[in-house]
Amino acid sequence: MTIIEHFLLVLITTILITLCVNAVKDCQDCGHIKVPYPLSTSPNCGDPNYKIRCNSGTLWFDTINGSSYIITSINPTLQRLVIQPPGLANNTCMSRDFKNEGMWLDTNSPFNITSSNTLILMNCSLEILTMLFNCSSTSICHKYIEEGNAVISKNCGVTSHASKLCCDVKTGGSATSHRIRVREDRCAAYASFPNLDPSLPVSMWQPGVEIEWQLPAEPSCKVAGDCLDVANSRCLPDPVAGGEGKCLCNAGFQWDPVNGKCQDTKCQHGRGCKLRKKSPLIGDIEDDRVEVYERIMNSDSEEDFEATYEAGDEDEDGGISDPEDGEFRIGIKYSSRKSVVIAIRSYTIYRGVNYNII
Ligand SMILES: *[C@@H]1O[C@H](CO)[C@@H](O)[C@H](O)[C@H]1NC(C)=O
Ligand SMILES: *[C@@H]1O[C@H](CO)[C@@H](O)[C@H](O)[C@H]1NC(C)=O
Ligand SMILES: *[C@@H]1O[C@H](CO)[C@@H](O)[C@H](O)[C@H]1NC(C)=O
Ligand SMILES: *[C@@H]1O[C@H](CO)[C@@H](O)[C@H](O)[C@H]1NC(C)=O
Ligand SMILES: *[C@@H]1O[C@H](CO)[C@@H](O)[C@H](O)[C@H]1NC(C)=O
Repeated sequence: MTIIEHFLLVLITTILITLCVNAVKDCQDCGHIKVPYPLSTSPNCGDPNYKIRCNSGTLWFDTINGSSYIITSINPTLQRLVIQPPGLANNTCMSRDFKNEGMWLDTNSPFNITSSNTLILMNCSLEILTMLFNCSSTSICHKYIEEGNAVISKNCGVTSHASKLCCDVKTGGSATSHRIRVREDRCAAYASFPNLDPSLPVSMWQPGVEIEWQLPAEPSCKVAGDCLDVANSRCLPDPVAGGEGKCLCNAGFQWDPVNGKCQDTKCQHGRGCKLRKKSPLIGDIEDDRVEVYERIMNSDSEEDFEATYEAGDEDEDGGISDPEDGEFRIGIKYSSRKSVVIAIRSYTIYRGVNYNII
């Protein structure tokens, strides 16, 4: 068996084992959108504490007062997602979620509003001046209303019947970490822009409300079988969670909250992990699977890769190419190519690694 064949066999088994057994069950795609762990669209996938909703190919973020917002992007590596602000109700300078007093996140949920959003508050009452918001004539809210889109200018601008008072504020204070409030005696409408550079023309401002989530703890369990999806774990009472049953990782493994699996502590970050150059008996594959996979995914240079596998130049007839810039290419004619491709695709997407199938 050549080194390439050996490597492919290890790789394929690795991927299949990693996906089928090792991690907490990921949720099915929502239309074409990946639902990365720990986000959960149904009680039997992801972590149910991180509930979002999939409706005909669109992901929704539901808040406690009955408002729902479309999720426009998700970054599982940074534990952040962006939702679409509600916009204005027809022919008014009032947000669509005004009747629910705006966007309220459950303070007991793992989600909160990040400190990166700039809010533009419009149609405000004088009482807003008691808040630490910038409602001066130099506030960027004036630029937004005047140079923003036609609907905003028409509904909230100088020629409208809306209050001329507007303000801007950065989220993140205690007042805005779990809610963006709109009401009669404050402001009736809002817009939001994550990581805003206000010197840009308003047409380039990207609307959104950025939300972050806490890293998830180990999955809850009642009986041993509940932990089958988390390889190398056992259902034990967790002292930290008041004795509640959790799938706690076995000795030598550590909970990896980003990927939802028990990670071999000997092989974190792919450093110090060598692929054993033995014939790939199942036992060896088991031992090596995290190492091999992490090595490929984290390998940051061609030299690094070649040094470990000594396979860099031998792949002209279809093999593993070198991972460049975090990309991972596979070009094999293999009976299980399709399953490997699918496996790699779902794995790399939720890991935030780019992939490229040639
Ligand atoms: C708002 O306007 C759109 C388009 O004019 C219309 O389809 C929609 O039904 C209106 N919504 C409400 C709540 O009046
Ligand atoms: C929104 O929910 C919070 C918490 O349950 C509640 O205090 C508030 O009154 C609600 N607002 C509306 C408009 O229902
Ligand atoms: C309000 O915002 C403008 C523009 O960013 C800034 O120049 C001004 O100093 C701010 N005023 C207050 C009171 O924070
Ligand atoms: C501005 O907000 C108030 C509620 O605070 C509302 O009654 C009024 O209709 C809004 N103005 C416009 C133009 O929508
Ligand atoms: C929001 O969530 C992040 C991530 O869990 C956490 O670090 C931060 O302290 C939270 N902020 C607030 C105000 O709760």
